[in-house]
Parts: sequence; C-alpha cells; structure tokens
Amino acid sequence: MGGLKKKVAIRTFGCQMNVADSEQMARVLAADYVLTDRPEEADLLLINTCAIRRKSEEKVLSLLGRLKAFKKRRPGLIIGVGGCVAQQEGERLLKAIPHLDLVFGTHGIYRLPELVKRAEQERTVDIGLSSCFPEAPGHEWPAGRVQTLVTIMQGCNNFCSFCVVPYVRGREFSREPADIEAEVKSFLAAGGKEVTLLGQNVNSYGRGLAEPVTFMELVRRLAALPGLARLRFATSHPKDLSDELIESFGELPALCEHLHLPVQSGSDRILKAMNRRYTREHYLDKVGRLKQVCPELNLSTDLIVGFPGETEEDFQDTLALMREAGFGQSFSFKYSPRPNTRAAEFPDQVPEPVKAERLRRLQAVQDELTLAAHRRLLGQVKEVLVEGPSKKSAGQLCGRLRTNQVVNFTGPQELAGRLAMVEITEAHPHSLKGRWVQEAPAR
Ligand code: 5AD
Ligand code: SF4
Repeated sequence: MGGLKKKVAIRTFGCQMNVADSEQMARVLAADYVLTDRPEEADLLLINTCAIRRKSEEKVLSLLGRLKAFKKRRPGLIIGVGGCVAQQEGERLLKAIPHLDLVFGTHGIYRLPELVKRAEQERTVDIGLSSCFPEAPGHEWPAGRVQTLVTIMQGCNNFCSFCVVPYVRGREFSREPADIEAEVKSFLAAGGKEVTLLGQNVNSYGRGLAEPVTFMELVRRLAALPGLARLRFATSHPKDLSDELIESFGELPALCEHLHLPVQSGSDRILKAMNRRYTREHYLDKVGRLKQVCPELNLSTDLIVGFPGETEEDFQDTLALMREAGFGQSFSFKYSPRPNTRAAEFPDQVPEPVKAERLRRLQAVQDELTLAAHRRLLGQVKEVLVEGPSKKSAGQLCGRLRTNQVVNFTGPQELAGRLAMVEITEAHPHSLKGRWVQEAPAR
C-alpha cells in the first residue's frame, strides 16, 4: 500500500525532546503518509520548532519566509508548524505568514491526522494543552535501529526565571509505566539495545499518576529488562536528583556511566536569581557522591553566560565550578530574554559583547576539560555501540561509548548495530579515534 500513500517531510529544530516528538509525528501519520527526507517531493511539510532562545526562533521564522516560493511551485502542498514557537505564537503565526496552513502546539501531535485533513480545507490552529498521554499507536521500528528516545513525561513545574518551557509545554504530567515498558520491550524485541528516557525534568516522574511511581522505580524496572544493554535519561534537575538514584550508578549494569546535569551557573547569587533552588555547594556535593560511586562517570551540563546581573566575579565562579566538577562536555549559551519569563524583566541585562566574550572564554575552558577527559581514554579498550558508517571518515565506523563520547574507528562493516570493544588510539578536542579489538561480551 506504500505507493498510495502521500509523503511527509519533517524538519526539526532544538532539543532531543523535539527529535522524539518529530518521530511521534511520523508515527501518528503513518496510516496516510510515508516519511521522506526530500522536502521538494513532500505533500505535507512539518516544521517542529524551538523557542528556548531567540536565535532558534529566528531560524524558524527565516525558514518559513523561504517556504513561500516553495509553496508557489507546489500549490497543493500543506505547510504546518508545530512545537514551542507554534505554541507560543498560535494564531499570530498564521496571520503573519499567509502561506502557512496549519499551526499545532506541543500537545497537538496525536491530533495531527485530523488537523492535517482540516488544514486541507481551511487554515487551522490548535494550541490546546492537555494533561495526559493518549494511548500511543503501536508501530514498527525501523530496521537496524539500535538506539531510541522514549518520552516518559511532558512539561515542567520549575519556572526557572530564564526559561520558556513551562509556558510552551505546560505543567508536568507523566506517562503510565506500563506503556513505557511496553514501548521499550517492543524496541528490544526488534533488536534495539539502547534507550534514552526523556522528560524536561525526569526526576519528578510519576508524581501525578493514579498510582504514583518514582523515577527510581521506573529506572529499576526498565534496567532489568533482558536485552537492554544501555539505559540513559535526560534531563535531570540537580535539586531533584535523589540519593537512591546517585547510588544506582554504581549498581545497575544497564545504566550508562553518563549523566547530563545542567548547572547553569557556578554563582550562588545568580543561581538564586535563576530560581534554580540549589547552591553551588549542593551541586558539587552531588557530583562528589556520584564520582565516588561511579569514578568513570562522564558528567555533562548546560551553562548560561550573561544572565541579568552576572558580574565578572560570578562568571569566574562558573569557570571554577566547571573545573571542580570536571565536566566532560557542556552546552553553553548566551542568555536570551524570552517572552513571559521573569528574567526578561530584570533591570541589569548584560551587554551582548560581554556575553559573547564570556562565552568564548567558557568554551575555551570546556575544550581544555574535554581534551583532558579524551586523553584519559587513550590506550583503553572500551565498549562501543556501533551506529554505522562514519559520516566524517570514509571507510570507518562510528559509535558511542557508554560514557557518551563518539568514536570513529576502523573495523569490519558488519559490526553496525552491534556492541564492539574498541581501543582508543587518538584523542582530539572534539573527537576520538580507535581500532576494533573484538566483539563485546554478551550482556
Ligand atoms: N537563554 C539562554 N539559554 C537558555 N536555556 C534555557 N533558556 C534559556 C535562555 N532564555 C538553556 C539552559 C537549558 C538549555 C536547554 O537551554 O541552559 O538547560
Ligand atoms: Fe526550563 Fe528550569 Fe524547567 Fe529545565 S527545569 S525546563 S530550565 S524551567
């Protein structure tokens, strides 16, 4: 029946949550549409947007502008915008962009089939927020897929003063553990090996369920599933990372030695203004305990420079904390004022050139830390989950360590999709190289 189906192209901006949402869009539309990566042959073009910083929003608006000519060439084409910018702008987006047919919010994904049908008749907006996960349609896993993202909760109740997420994704609600387990089991049955659990704040998973479950309970239940070689999760809020979860890093074999734990700033004054509800000392205490139970742990983080009121001294506190925590990787951003958020109204906004200069200095420190972490891996033989041929080095394979670093290595092509033992032979600031040694022992 594939030949009778129409084609959908989906362009994704932003975070892992959006990547997972785009995959869900393709699944809910699968009865009528096949996915294509060639927008010029699509009947339906969906753009999944991100509103976290102004720059990502600007990129979306400029792409939408360019699509005018596209639509002229293919008048039957339906163009839809979803995700956080759609949620934030709603009707305004439809008014501003005449060649747009559909605007759907962060909770509109499951209603997409009917929304697209409506958009074929009339221009449509749906930015209603809900508070539960509808039953997900069963689906087939793409052949050869070894890793997947599984959404376990939506929304956020934290209201960090810089962040637009609680406004565009609504309050927290969790998915039923049985549904999550069923999805993971079906992935494992299809040959999957690695699962990343996703939510804006996974540590508060399970609170609103009819039968409340803790995140730790969910992790234990999934980590015990036969065939699951690797389990990860993102994102954790430092204030909610429980002692039990910290200890499980030394305990549960499937749980990877990698944790993304956004700190945002190393200054107590700024953390308070950000409404993060932990201090630098609390954060470093948790890091210390994590490293104690799991010395190999690779810690990654998010950092914001130039938050309103940030002085050179506050910034120095951030640089010092980076060294103390020994981050293996960080995602760093210049503070960007967002609609509705409290920090956008704070008086002492930091000038753009100061933000840019701090970002450069911070990234230089991170490069140094990353290179040091890479060098520590030199000569070691590590387990790699092989994703497939390397995009960067012809003839090589590419995979990821349990600690989350990407390795390009030489080895037989048939290793794709398998676990392999690889010796790390070269450490560069942004990459690792290696050579295949042998198959990984069965888990
Ligand atoms: N400005 C800059 N960075 C931001 N982030 C969230 N909101 C903003 C903002 N207004 C960053 C935080 C968060 C990551 C996903 O994006 O570091 O952890
Ligand atoms: Fe945004 Fe803070 Fe919620 Fe993370 S915890 S999504 S930074 S409000």
